[in-house]
Amino acid sequence: MLPLNLAEYETAARGKIPDAFYDYIAGGAADEITLQHNRSAFNKIALRPRVLVDVDHIDQSTSILGVPIQMPVLVGMTASHQLCHPDGELATARAAHSMGTIMTVGTLSNYPIGEVRQASPGPIWLQLYVYNDMDLNRGTIEQGIAAGAKALVITVDTPYLGRRERDLRNKLVIPPELKAGHLQNLSIDQEQGAQASEKQVQIFRSDSLRSTSMTWDDLATYREMAAGMPFVIKGILTAEDAKLAVDYGMDAIIISNHGGRQLDTSIPTIDALPEVVEAVAGRVPVLIDGGIRRGTDVIKALALGASAVLIGRPVLWGLAVNGEAGVRHVLELLRNEIQLTMALCGKTSLQALDRSLLKFYP
Ligand code: FNR
Repeated sequence: MLPLNLAEYETAARGKIPDAFYDYIAGGAADEITLQHNRSAFNKIALRPRVLVDVDHIDQSTSILGVPIQMPVLVGMTASHQLCHPDGELATARAAHSMGTIMTVGTLSNYPIGEVRQASPGPIWLQLYVYNDMDLNRGTIEQGIAAGAKALVITVDTPYLGRRERDLRNKLVIPPELKAGHLQNLSIDQEQGAQASEKQVQIFRSDSLRSTSMTWDDLATYREMAAGMPFVIKGILTAEDAKLAVDYGMDAIIISNHGGRQLDTSIPTIDALPEVVEAVAGRVPVLIDGGIRRGTDVIKALALGASAVLIGRPVLWGLAVNGEAGVRHVLELLRNEIQLTMALCGKTSLQALDRSLLKFYP
């Protein structure tokens, strides 16, 4: 029997991939408090459903930065999809496209964005980790431009990698046959042979080459490189930073604590959403990720003012269980849950969702 919900996908995936990969994906930083709170914070919000509304037709389509999507859920950016399935990001992108949503490709994808584009004609965003090596940053962005990416997402919560103790305990090694796809297309890789493979290992380890000095003023450099692509900032958790993000010209904000993988005990994302929405005051779309596993979670986030949500781990669980079809099913389950939640709340469009739908427990 197919898994009935996203949690069951996690259970099913556990048996399909090595324990160390499962831990790498499932785990968070330190005591994993934020990882747990991302989920439990949703349970402190109750729904106030309305009845006797004609819910014959329910529309969950919307658009984000000019791209129409059939459901308010994007495929979040996660590294190394080949840890879960040999087809990696190609399969994920096809599934996202078949469900009418946006695929985000990470800097650390195994397949570079150009190959993802060839595998799927659907809308793609590119995520950027900023490294000290400007050729690497520019080269990655240029591949995004060439592939027709619809947005560049700059991740700003990762100057250093969070302390992921499961990975330390497991002595996690990314298998050498898995490539940092974007690096493959850069001259550094072709020209420097062994040195380049060493660099690739370091990049996957992600702690030695990453920029630790980037500040708000540096965003302009990457924005310029993005040559007009909408520019999205990921990793915002406070009203203060949300205001700065708008002041610095970001086109959208993703509220994220990196799925609890960076600063442990940082605020659960759904708790950060109200202050960010208030600070942004409708000037740019606000998206959110972290712990979204049910249609009711999606509806709560949208009722609090998010334009859409992203899911990280569940996509990887789907990929591990059944490749492209598994990711598609994960998205289908969520789409169906969103549909049912809207119907049972008496809401027929996403525009009808607002805070009157919610009650907060102390
Ligand atoms: C991530 N995340 C992430 N984020 C990013 O900006 N670049 C990246 O390369 C990665 N890689 C990555 C790998 C894995 C295995 C996970 C689980 C997460 C964070 C990701 O985009 C997202 O913020 C969280 O996964 C959202 O939380 P949920 O949906 O996984 O709870």
